Amino acid sequence: MRLDYFIAHATGLTRSQAKRLIASGAVSVSGVARPTARLQLDGEQVQLDGTPLTLPGHRYLMLHKPHGVVCSTEDPGHRTVLDLLPGDQRRDLHSAGRLDLDTTGLVLLTTDGQWSHRITSPNTHCPKRYRVTTALPLTAAAVQQLRAGVLLHDSPTPTRPAEVEQLADAELLLTISEGRYHQVKRMLAATGNRVTALHREAIGALSLDPSLEAGAWRFLSGSEVALFA
Ligand code: URA
Repeated sequence: MRLDYFIAHATGLTRSQAKRLIASGAVSVSGVARPTARLQLDGEQVQLDGTPLTLPGHRYLMLHKPHGVVCSTEDPGHRTVLDLLPGDQRRDLHSAGRLDLDTTGLVLLTTDGQWSHRITSPNTHCPKRYRVTTALPLTAAAVQQLRAGVLLHDSPTPTRPAEVEQLADAELLLTISEGRYHQVKRMLAATGNRVTALHREAIGALSLDPSLEAGAWRFLSGSEVALFA
């Protein structure tokens, strides 16, 4: 297989863009910085600026969602996460779970429905870590309630036990392994408090890349994709 063809399929770039990347020296094959034009696919690892690329067609991205952007793929009133990507990358992507309009942080986007299902399914209990700022200081009783599980209005079942690390009087890291509607905000409301800022830092063992500014994105490496395999 030609290397430019491989790169175009792995990234969604055009063949001519892929050729320009190869010519620029950004692509290596099995550690060789100036690769030949053809690949012997078995076992060869293609890297773009040090990031492993994978075939076939599925794409996996992480994005730093800014405030005021929706996670749905279409919205009449707001910018969507897809609007933050170049046009040639948007095709067939969906987000693996959603954040509220005013929540910032890690969003995973993919074309692979089975992969995203493992992240969002209520049965897999994939943990999500949030940095939460609250209107009022947290009491010891509230921290205890969050850890044990709280009752939300619409459900007779308490939330699953959560991990809580208090960072300041009104700031905590909260790790939950469910994805109920507005769950973090409603959990804090159930303790008599209110969320004033919410930022997702991690999904499972995958943390938001600190080099990504709000609105920026990058492809996941093969090993990052494999965290949810
Ligand atoms: N919980 C919320 O309340 N909002 C989010 O965006 C994510 C989790």
